[in-house]
Amino acid sequence: MFVLGIETSCDETAAAIVKDGREVLSNIVYSQVEIHTSFGGVVPEIASRKHVEKISYAVEAALNQANMEIDKIDAIAATYGPGLVGSLLVGLSFAKALSYAKKIPFVAVNHIEGHIYANFITYPELKPPLVVLVVSGGHTNLIVLEDFDKYEVVGKTRDDAAGEAFDKIARYLGLGYPGGPAIDRVSKFGDEEKYKYPVAAVEGYNFSFSGLKSAVINHVHTLKQKKENFKVEDIAASFQKAVVDTLVEKTVKLSLETNIKRVAIAGGVAANSKLREKLVERCTQHQIELYVPDFKYCTDNAAMVASAGYFRLVKGQTSSYSINAIPYIGL
Ligand code: KG4
Ligand code: ZN
Repeated sequence: MFVLGIETSCDETAAAIVKDGREVLSNIVYSQVEIHTSFGGVVPEIASRKHVEKISYAVEAALNQANMEIDKIDAIAATYGPGLVGSLLVGLSFAKALSYAKKIPFVAVNHIEGHIYANFITYPELKPPLVVLVVSGGHTNLIVLEDFDKYEVVGKTRDDAAGEAFDKIARYLGLGYPGGPAIDRVSKFGDEEKYKYPVAAVEGYNFSFSGLKSAVINHVHTLKQKKENFKVEDIAASFQKAVVDTLVEKTVKLSLETNIKRVAIAGGVAANSKLREKLVERCTQHQIELYVPDFKYCTDNAAMVASAGYFRLVKGQTSSYSINAIPYIGL
């Protein structure tokens, strides 16, 4: 089965064709990051306008790259939420219109669910059950994936998402946007043990990063006021360590407590090199199998949406055209 995936939830206009949920035949991502960089973050109105300009080119490019005609496509999967409403509407409306015009079944996909499926692309043999840590700019979730369409969200953030904290701290430190990759890069030249930043103790598998963010900002402010010398690299590395340690400890704990000795990560922050390194270390210690998606499938893309759509379609699930964009939907 060939599924055309469409993803426009934030600032990437993406289209991809995936065979049987696992084999990527094409993967087109038109990033708007350069446009939004000058504003220090994504400007929703600009993002949706750029999606309108790019969406048909992205779909055409995906078909060309896969060497396919639209008539060979068995289904169209598109993200309906969560995300920026104007951005979501572009991809979703395009998908519905194309589906209606060409009489191709349509399936709406939850963006967070899409991130999880990046793992099934990278690892063709991988099957649930799985413990999944989804960490992106908008979400931080710990999930027990019991089956392809059956999961339980056992933990989430009470305030900032992990990626959001990275972005805000990077912005404060003058490292630019997007902040996650910048902090990752400069941290390699810093001492992560230099400062001990507190992470709020939250019950169960939930997270909170807003206090940590304030602690780092207040600390840097004090250092500046006292005219003390400091290296941005040390601040970045110490902050990154605080986030990564919390994410890793809760993920490993969930794996051990559920006895699901298979952990996967997903979302933009899954590209973080320290997170990957630390997870490898801790999972090896506890004989937990670790699955880490390819870099290109960690950040927003449409292949993951096509894959998630496929696993719904094979269970006979399609969506009605009445489905709307839902900016704040969870899993
Ligand atoms: O999944 P994604 O592309 O978009 C959302 O659905 O949010 O994630 C984007 C987030 C941003 O906050 C970005 O700073 C973060 O992922 N990110 C990283 C890294 N690469 C991207 N965070 C930490 N380290 C990275 N290497
Ligand atoms: Zn995302």
